[in-house]
Amino acid sequence: MKEIIILASGNGSNFESICVYFSKSKSIRVKQLITDNKDAFVIQRAKKLNVDYKIIDYHCFNNKSEYNHTLFEHLKSFNFDLIVLAGYMRILPDYIVNYYKGKIINIHPSLLPNYKGINAIARAFENKEKYTGITIHYVDEGVDTGKIIFQKKVRIKKSDTIESLEKRIHKIEHKTYPKIIKRVLAKNN
Ligand code: GAR
Repeated sequence: MKEIIILASGNGSNFESICVYFSKSKSIRVKQLITDNKDAFVIQRAKKLNVDYKIIDYHCFNNKSEYNHTLFEHLKSFNFDLIVLAGYMRILPDYIVNYYKGKIINIHPSLLPNYKGINAIARAFENKEKYTGITIHYVDEGVDTGKIIFQKKVRIKKSDTIESLEKRIHKIEHKTYPKIIKRVLAKNN
């Protein structure tokens, strides 16, 4: 059985789609959700789906390095095959990325290397791009710079609002991310 850990900070719609996709799998399971935000809606989703979760509340620490140290100690305390970032809005420090080299993936709502960082959908929309998209990539020491595993282009329609575009992008993320996770785990065999 391959086991994945999901890190998320907010709504958790990707977390839910991954859990649902693997809920009947005999070879892959979501071992735990880790969130840095005690108020994140993703916690409600974990409860509903009966998935183990751990809150490491960022705001309970004196600084970033104490938070990251606790996260690292927690990760090292158990075994798993892949760390999946799904709307995790913090930057993992180099030492965690290096320790788990090739074992951390992220999803980002743009066609990287365009629109790295936060608010990627809104920025592409406001810049009147004709296309944006989604990217799934390995995590390296940079921000949204790791080796690309998968990309899908999404056309921005004239009739789109930020909300309609966001909705379409999320739908594609939900459909795609679980399948790519499966593919990455098969490759890591
Ligand atoms: C997703 O659109 C994901 O691509 C994005 O946050 C959203 C999380 O939604 N991630 C980033 O922007 C990372 N830089 P969710 O919490 O509903 O899954």
